[in-house]
Amino acid sequence: MKILVTGGTGYIGSHTVVELQNRGYDVIIVDDLSNSSIEVLDNIAKITGKKLLFEQFDLTDQDKTKGFFRKYNDIKGVIHFAAFKAVGESVNFPLKYYRNNLLSLINILQGMGDNAIPNIVFSSSCTVYGQPAVLPVREDAPVQKAWSPYGATKQISEDIINDTSRSAGIKGILLRYFNPIGAHESAIIGELPIGEPNCLMPYITQTAIGKRPFLRVWGNDYNTPDGTAIRDYLHVTDLAKAHVIAVERMLNETMKQNVEVFNLGTGNGFSVMQVIESFERSTGVKLNYQIMDRRPGDIEQVWADTGFANKELGWKTEKSLDEMTASAWKWEKELAKKRK
Ligand code: NAD
Ligand code: WQD
Repeated sequence: MKILVTGGTGYIGSHTVVELQNRGYDVIIVDDLSNSSIEVLDNIAKITGKKLLFEQFDLTDQDKTKGFFRKYNDIKGVIHFAAFKAVGESVNFPLKYYRNNLLSLINILQGMGDNAIPNIVFSSSCTVYGQPAVLPVREDAPVQKAWSPYGATKQISEDIINDTSRSAGIKGILLRYFNPIGAHESAIIGELPIGEPNCLMPYITQTAIGKRPFLRVWGNDYNTPDGTAIRDYLHVTDLAKAHVIAVERMLNETMKQNVEVFNLGTGNGFSVMQVIESFERSTGVKLNYQIMDRRPGDIEQVWADTGFANKELGWKTEKSLDEMTASAWKWEKELAKKRK
C-alpha cells in the first residue's frame, strides 16, 4: 500500500514517515529540500530499517507534478505536508507563500483527480481560529480572518479541498495542528530550524545549549493566570501517529463525510512560563530569559477541544509536557554533537 508524503523530509513529515513505515506502509516522499536536508532519508532508515522512494522536485511545477502522478498512479493516499510555514516571513513575502502553498496543493489535487487517487490528508493549523471566543476550541468554531498570509493559505487550502471534494471525488481529512514540539525518542530525527527560531521550543533549547544568550518571553500582561500566553503543545510523535490513523480511516472508508476536520492537540493549555518550568524540571538546566513586550500578532490563549478526534479517530496524545520538553532537549544535544 503506497502512501505519498509530500514534505516528508521536513519536521512533522519525517516523524510521520517513521510511523507509516512502522505500520507496514510503502512510502514515497516528494520534497524539494527547500527547508530540509537529504540526510533525513538516511536517518529515517536508521530508525525503521526500511527503504523508501524519494523524488526531489518542487510541487509548484505543474509538469513535474503531472509526470510524477502518471508514473506512480498506484498511490493509495496522499499526506500533504509540503508548505512554507514561517508566519513572519509570510507577512513580508506574501506572494512567495500564496504561490508555494496554494500552487502545490492545486497541482497535487489535479494529479490525484487525473489518476483516480481519492484520499488526501492535509496539514492545517489552529491558526485558522485566531483568538477563539470559546475555549477549548471545537472544530465548528468560526474561522476568523487570517492575521498572516501564511494563515490565509491554510484557510484557502481548506476551501480548495472542500470545493474539490464536491466536484472531483476527492476525500479530505483536514488536520488542524496546535503546537507540535519535541523529537523522535531516538533523537535521530527532529526539528531543524534554519537561522534564528521563531517558535518557543527551539528557542528554549538553543538558549539552554548556549547558541542564544536568552529567551525573550513575549509579554506577561495577558489575561492568563501567570500573565504569559497559553498554547496547546503536543509531541510530534503523537501528532505523526494521528496521520496514520487518518490515512487508515480513508482507506477503510470509515469517513462520515467527504471532508472531515480534526483538532490535533492534547486538550491542555500551558503558558510560556509553564513550558519554561517544565523544561527546567525535566532537564535540570536553568534557563536564561527576559520578559519583553508582547509579540505583534500573537493571540492570548488557545487550546483544543479534542473530543471529536478522541472519539472518531480513537486517537489521543500520550506524552506529557515534561516528556516533550525533555525530548526537545535530547535532540538539541544531538545536534550540538553533530555541529562539533
Ligand atoms: P517543514 O518546513 O519542516 O517541512 C515542510 C517540508 O516541505 C520541507 O521539507 C520543505 O523542503 C518541503 N517543501 C516546501 N515547499 C515545497 C514544494 N513546493 N515542493 C516540495 N517540497 C516542498 O515544516 P513542518 O513543521 O514539518 O510542517 C509541515 C506542515 O505542517 C506544513 O504544511 C505546515 O504549514 C504545517 N503546520 C506546521 C506547524 C508547526 O508548528 N510546525 C503547525 C501547524 C501546521
Ligand atoms: C508559542 C508561545 C509566543 C518564542 C506559530 C504559528 C502557528 C503554528 C505554530 C503553523 C507564544 C511565545 C515564542 C519566543 C516566546 N504554525 N514565545 N518567546 O505563535 O503559537 O504559533 O507556530 O501553522 O501558525 O503562528 O507558536 O512557538 O511561536 O509561540 O515567548 O522566543 O511562545 O509569544 O505565546 P505560535 P510559537
